[in-house]
Amino acid sequence: MNETLNTIRTRRSVRVYTEQQVSAEDLNLILEAAVCAPSGMNFQDWHFTAIQKAELLVQLNDKIKSAFAKSDNPQWQERGHSNTYCCYYHAPTLVIVSGKADSPLSPSDCACALENIFLAAKSLGIGSCWINQLGQTCDDAEVRAFLIEELGIPADYKVFGCAALGYAPADMPVKERKMKEGVVTVIR
Ligand SMILES: Cc1cc2nc3c(=O)[nH]c(=O)nc-3n(C[C@H](O)[C@H](O)[C@H](O)COP(=O)(O)O)c2cc1C
Repeated sequence: MNETLNTIRTRRSVRVYTEQQVSAEDLNLILEAAVCAPSGMNFQDWHFTAIQKAELLVQLNDKIKSAFAKSDNPQWQERGHSNTYCCYYHAPTLVIVSGKADSPLSPSDCACALENIFLAAKSLGIGSCWINQLGQTCDDAEVRAFLIEELGIPADYKVFGCAALGYAPADMPVKERKMKEGVVTVIR
């Protein structure tokens, strides 16, 4: 099987990370892969914010938790009040993918970029996981202010997803994944 197909087949979400940081060189390669993704009309109306500063990630997680705590959703409330909840699984790197809030293309553009991030990471031996919680809370006033003022995300952008990046522990078993059946139709 060719290397690209093998990377696609063997990628899995990683939810436990060692403390080893992703190197600047590898992070650049991953971000280059992100901006190579297709985008509707080739507008490329997206922004990638890579954070490798642990204190900033903790602050971001706290803002997300505060937003969850205000919600009516019992699962979100539980996360908001938990002392241990960490939406990014303590990964050493988080890439926030944002896009123009008023563009109907943004969710698809950002999803394409995220998949490129995951596959590029896998090809470099780096684990990854889609982190959705910032997308769910980015309209909260405090989260929004943090994104704009502390992280420099454009004010007219919204978060559509994030990628946690780092290294899985060496003894982590490779997860088997059962593919749902009946989801492909070929008409010739
Ligand atoms: C839109 C989207 C949102 C997701 N959000 C989360 C998330 O917030 N946290 C998480 O641990 N995994 C998240 N995932 C990862 C999925 O749970 C994962 O891809 C799925 O269970 C299949 O497992 P695999 O990635 O190992 O093949 C998300 C995936 C997608 C596509």
